[in-house]
Amino acid sequence: MTRVALLSQSADLSYFAPLLRAQDPSLDVAVWPDPRARDAEVAVCWNPPRGVYDEMPRLRLIHSIAAGVDNVVDRQNLRGLPVCRVVDPALADGMVQYVLWSILYFHRNLDLAAANQRTGTWKRPAQQPASACRVGLMGLGNLGGAIAQVLPRLGYPVNGWSRTPREMAGVTVFSGAEGLQAFLAATDVLVCLLPLTGQTRGILGRATFDALPRGAAVVNCGRGEHLVASDLIDALSSGHLRGAVLDVFDQEPLPPDHALWQTPGVVVTPHMATMASSQVVARQVTDNIARLRNGQALVHLVDSQRGY
Ligand code: NDP
Ligand code: OXD
Repeated sequence: MTRVALLSQSADLSYFAPLLRAQDPSLDVAVWPDPRARDAEVAVCWNPPRGVYDEMPRLRLIHSIAAGVDNVVDRQNLRGLPVCRVVDPALADGMVQYVLWSILYFHRNLDLAAANQRTGTWKRPAQQPASACRVGLMGLGNLGGAIAQVLPRLGYPVNGWSRTPREMAGVTVFSGAEGLQAFLAATDVLVCLLPLTGQTRGILGRATFDALPRGAAVVNCGRGEHLVASDLIDALSSGHLRGAVLDVFDQEPLPPDHALWQTPGVVVTPHMATMASSQVVARQVTDNIARLRNGQALVHLVDSQRGY
């Protein structure tokens, strides 16, 4: 029997218990702060309490219920334990849809139409072909890579930026710090699909915005901590940036009095770009638990050096 702890300080993960047991009836599932969670061999997490792994001497595997692992590893003592995340084609499909919508929102001037509606103004905005809207994808992994496959077929010129260089059909790829300026200078809609790490925290800030052409737009689907909100507000109010679609925030839920709710040009969505189904998450977790028991290689393992 393997004991699994469901760990979160911000969400009720108890709904995972029956889903995990449906996949593997031998699992013994405890929901933190149930004291039985301390004896778990597997931690299934979203935003676990800081230091909680230190109280779990039998822990052998940490599994995120999400694609991102930042809130699972950040400021935690991992003591070399393996960390796995969720990778799922349907999750990628959802992100492709959301990002496509946000690109169309700017490319087809729907932001202008929405602003005109507020003043009862009937005005047909000029239209440009997709070839006039250069999309810059920050992050070419499971999610950014899926978007990079779709956009060229729709006629968008696509630039991508990753940590390591690569060839991608239909995409001009830039990499590393040395590729960033050229990547940004050739981008009209910048889409952030980076993981949150020490290298990417605050990357959507003044220096990045200044390097974008005047009139560019920003879409953040990575993590809220990628964005320096005050720099975005400055870049929008100066007219350097045209608008922003923001799905993630350093504080979620975004507080009702946060300036971003009311900043002209900003669209706020509640971390809804995409989400894996609970059944898929439960299947991936139980598959990795079986692998752990059988001494097989874990899947979707995070590289502890890179942090993603
Ligand atoms: P992956 O790990 O598959 O891909 C990450 C990509 O980012 C890779 O291409 C990687 O480069 C690149 N990257 C990482 N660090 C740097 C860096 N310092 N400089 C340049 N490029 C870098 O992640 P996913 O695509 O699966 O997910 C990305 C993020 O999306 C998640 O971490 C999560 O934060 C967010 N997310 C948001 C959701 C939402 O609903 N808003 C839902 C799901 C995920 P390389 O390939 O060279 O390693
Ligand atoms: C994820 C998320 O990382 O939901 O999967 O943000």
